[in-house]
Amino acid sequence: VPHLLGIKNITPEDIHLIFETADNFKEVLNRPIRKVPSLRDITIANVFFENSTRTRLSFELAEKRLSADTINFASSSSSVKKGETLLDTVNNILAMKVDMIVMRHSSPGAPHFLARHIKANIINAGDGTHEHPTQALLDAYSIRERLGDVAGKKVVIVGDILHSRVALSNIFALKKLGADVMVCGPPTLMPRFIGELGVRVESDLLTALRWCDVANILRIQLERQQMHYFPSLREYAMYYGVNRHVLRQLDKEITIMHPGPINRGVELSSDVADSEHAIILGQVENGVAIRMAVLYLLAGNA
Ligand code: CP
Repeated sequence: VPHLLGIKNITPEDIHLIFETADNFKEVLNRPIRKVPSLRDITIANVFFENSTRTRLSFELAEKRLSADTINFASSSSSVKKGETLLDTVNNILAMKVDMIVMRHSSPGAPHFLARHIKANIINAGDGTHEHPTQALLDAYSIRERLGDVAGKKVVIVGDILHSRVALSNIFALKKLGADVMVCGPPTLMPRFIGELGVRVESDLLTALRWCDVANILRIQLERQQMHYFPSLREYAMYYGVNRHVLRQLDKEITIMHPGPINRGVELSSDVADSEHAIILGQVENGVAIRMAVLYLLAGNA
């Protein structure tokens, strides 16, 4: 059964096919009638063990635009609270004749574990600090849309690289597509294995921004940190916050991205987040077309 568990094990050809399929769906989404019958008779469960706004809603919308039947599960209001296991929960959902599972979980590897035990298609909607494949796909797709191509572009990912599944999936996707990738952030928020990923590492924000064409700005993942984290949000904003003052010190215009949710005034100021340099809501718009493409291809319609 085909799954999308991460970007690490898919090919550049897979990514190009997803992009071309998303191009077609983006055109559909701009028509007066935005629905196609492609996944009629397919039932999809969105199973979220962690909070989400963009990923959960855009998967649900993508499923509805493809005419699939959908059910939504949030662990906070479920029998997980009574002690039911992940596998029992998913097997009970599958007993209701569900074909595909979209899952977000706080444990790295949770969707990989499920893939070994169940027969339905699984799409990883974020597993702890590990991967967030559809976010990386929509980010790379948005760069391609803005700059014409991903190959040869200089992309810096700024922020909490250590705890970010968005960073890891973005690194895999961008490198597979031929981008030159840099990570920038405090050394305390860099993973020890960063040297194995084939990316440039820079701790000075201005140097990184002067180098890049695109800056993908991440938030500090406070929910995944110890109590006494360093730097504090105030220190982080002072040294790594992207704002108008910082951008004015560059001798060129760069594209600003953010996967959301934004902590305004910490990693990104409102005067940049809401400016013409930012494509943040465009990323969200593209998320629906990308997720339609992934669902369509996994359902066997390639
Ligand atoms: N970008 C992203 O994954 O946002 P949500 O956590 O709101 O889904």
